[in-house]
Amino acid sequence: LFTCVGRRVGLINLFRKSAQRLGLKLGVYGCDAERLSPALYVCDDHEVVNSVREDAYINTLLDLVKRWDIGLLIPTIDTELPVLAENKQRLIDSGCEVLVSEPRVIRACYDKLNTYRYLSAHNVGTPKTCLPAEALESEDFEYPCIMKPAHGSASRGIHKAYSKHDIEFYSHRHKDIIVQEFVEGGEYTCDVFVDRGGEVRCCVPRQRIETRGGEVSKSKIVKRRDLIDEAVKAVNSLGCSFGMITVQELLANDGRIMIFDINPRFGGGVPLAIHAGADFPGWIMQSLLGKQDHEQVDYYNYQDGLIMLRYDSEIWL
Ligand SMILES: Nc1ncnc2c1ncn2[C@@H]1O[C@H](COP(=O)(O)OP(=O)(O)O)[C@@H](O)[C@H]1O
Ligand SMILES: [Mg+2]
Repeated sequence: LFTCVGRRVGLINLFRKSAQRLGLKLGVYGCDAERLSPALYVCDDHEVVNSVREDAYINTLLDLVKRWDIGLLIPTIDTELPVLAENKQRLIDSGCEVLVSEPRVIRACYDKLNTYRYLSAHNVGTPKTCLPAEALESEDFEYPCIMKPAHGSASRGIHKAYSKHDIEFYSHRHKDIIVQEFVEGGEYTCDVFVDRGGEVRCCVPRQRIETRGGEVSKSKIVKRRDLIDEAVKAVNSLGCSFGMITVQELLANDGRIMIFDINPRFGGGVPLAIHAGADFPGWIMQSLLGKQDHEQVDYYNYQDGLIMLRYDSEIWL
């Protein structure tokens, strides 16, 4: 069951492809609060559900798990991670595994000031981050800097601030905003797979060449050891559970690697990593069936340099 399935048609198709290759019979189900979410209509069955913000959300999911006999729940957006993490045991008791980490991990990733504090405490490279008041008090604060919502997503509400005046302006306009060192350089996203025992098995860095509405539209695999090592270090320090973690990195012009956003779920650009040979869907399904033999999988046998160019497609109702 893909929750908040939205536009994840590519990911669903890749799950089907992996299942077919492994000779598994797979049923794909989807739910979303928005009736016109395209991916609903490529599922074997779907349901339009209440919003993640409503208390009834988790009970609705428990009903769907029972109705369709769901064995695995795959969250796709950040806002549902806290409620799924808090209720993971209830879903497991209904026979459904959930690809979500502990509430402690979700809290560390969900708030960007927490992410900064966590990563810097664990000696992982991360851009200096603080509340607006602290930046305003500081005499040697460097400009330009980035201002963004602590709980933001999809690149919404992001501003570049060039002065104390800008910081004051944006902090009055938005509550919940933080100030972060601006890092000039290349941007990379790493898809990290954590096995059922909590061990990191694979990390695929991909360059973010172009984005549309906060989601990557052009991307290229760049198999660089330093990008991999820093992302793995971040995920290990967090202690993530079974599933996917998406780690965003900036490779500064001076060579430093800075991690600035972690989404503990399948990232939007993950089809590129899967196409390149990182068979996350297959590894996850095999693990659930107790068939994953780690000795036999070369987790880093994915294709370097592969490029993904996305375009619009249509669903007709
Ligand atoms: N400190 C920074 N330096 C330079 N660019 C940044 C910085 N923080 C964010 N950005 C840019 O803004 C985008 C969105 O920021 P991010 O922290 O990932 O927020 P969101 O939760 O909305 O994804 C990034 O993909 C990057 O292009
Ligand atoms: Mg991000």
